[in-house]
Amino acid sequence: MNYRPLGRTGWNVSEVSFGAWAIGGSWGVVDDKSSLAALHQAIDSGVNFIDTADVYGMGRSECLIRQLKRERSEQIIVATKSGRRLPSQTVEGYSRENLTSWVDDSLRNLQVDSLDLLQLHCPPTDLYYHPEVFGVLDDLVRAGKLRYYGVSVERLEEALKAIEYPNVQTVQIIFNCFRQRPAEIFFPQAKQKQVGILARVPLASGLLTGKFRRDSQFDPEDHRNFNRHGDAFDVGETFSGVDYELALQAVEEIRPLVPSGMSMAQFALKWILMFDALSCAIPGGKSPEQVRDNCRASDLPSLSSAVMKAVYEIYQNKISPLVHQRW
Ligand SMILES: NC(=O)c1ccc[n+]([C@@H]2O[C@H](COP(=O)([O-])OP(=O)(O)OC[C@H]3O[C@@H](n4cnc5c(N)ncnc54)[C@H](OP(=O)(O)O)[C@@H]3O)[C@@H](O)[C@H]2O)c1
Repeated sequence: MNYRPLGRTGWNVSEVSFGAWAIGGSWGVVDDKSSLAALHQAIDSGVNFIDTADVYGMGRSECLIRQLKRERSEQIIVATKSGRRLPSQTVEGYSRENLTSWVDDSLRNLQVDSLDLLQLHCPPTDLYYHPEVFGVLDDLVRAGKLRYYGVSVERLEEALKAIEYPNVQTVQIIFNCFRQRPAEIFFPQAKQKQVGILARVPLASGLLTGKFRRDSQFDPEDHRNFNRHGDAFDVGETFSGVDYELALQAVEEIRPLVPSGMSMAQFALKWILMFDALSCAIPGGKSPEQVRDNCRASDLPSLSSAVMKAVYEIYQNKISPLVHQRW
């Protein structure tokens, strides 16, 4: 496993880290025993950074991470998020009172005195024009409840606005073979300001592992079933917002590009790691096997420029018209 600096925090994080949404909920049935085994495998594979949120299973994901930390002696940096417990997303909802109470709940779930990294959880675009919210986060850092804070964004424009705030240490954004726009505009600016970038949904909700077919079935409690058209939250979080059938066609165009000895999941992650501006990819994993497969991507050889160009062309021809101007 290779490690990269996380912005200006002084931490070096595993370039393949762990996304802990699926082990909390919204991905069909998951049992805590397998989830803990997946988390242990991540640490065994060299992962030292985990992304979670208060709403992933309403504390379930955070509590599993607390248990993992009790059972391991290695340093594990935990990034959590606040904001999605609001019944509707408004700037006013990100009040001092609410932020403090959400942070206190995460401190309790994780049983720590200070959160390593708190991210605002895809707040409304207008929030980025309200410096007072970032002032509250500064106060929470001063009070010792947070070490650092950052944001998780839907849109690239939000990312660009967020990094105008000097204490925003990280930006989490969807970045994968089907979502290439952040590399064009945002990465150079974040790199220049030494802001850490977390690439979320790196496998396009599993699509880029190449395992799905037209007739693949998803549990009613899995967002790949209930949010395919954005009924519950931003449609971009499910399959990266790409139409399922079209995405399957694009996956078949990517498949022959995968070098022998590499799984498609590893290829998708290696593609992300080719961008040196970012700190880490945070693939979700429900089993030790998935996590082992994903973490191995770090040690595999780089992709050739011909392969990178071919993936870009597939994106340009098939995917970009659907997503490029939207996020
Ligand atoms: N708004 C936000 O801030 C936000 C939104 C989304 C995600 N995130 C963060 O980003 C993380 C990653 O995104 P994500 O979990 O949505 O999507 P993802 O990483 O693209 O996909 C994860 C899913 O793909 C499947 N998978 C993983 N590794 C595999 C492998 N090697 N082989 C086959 N299948 C594999 C698993 O589901 P199955 O086995 O069921 O197929 C897994 O749950 C999340 O866990 C969360 O921490 C944040």
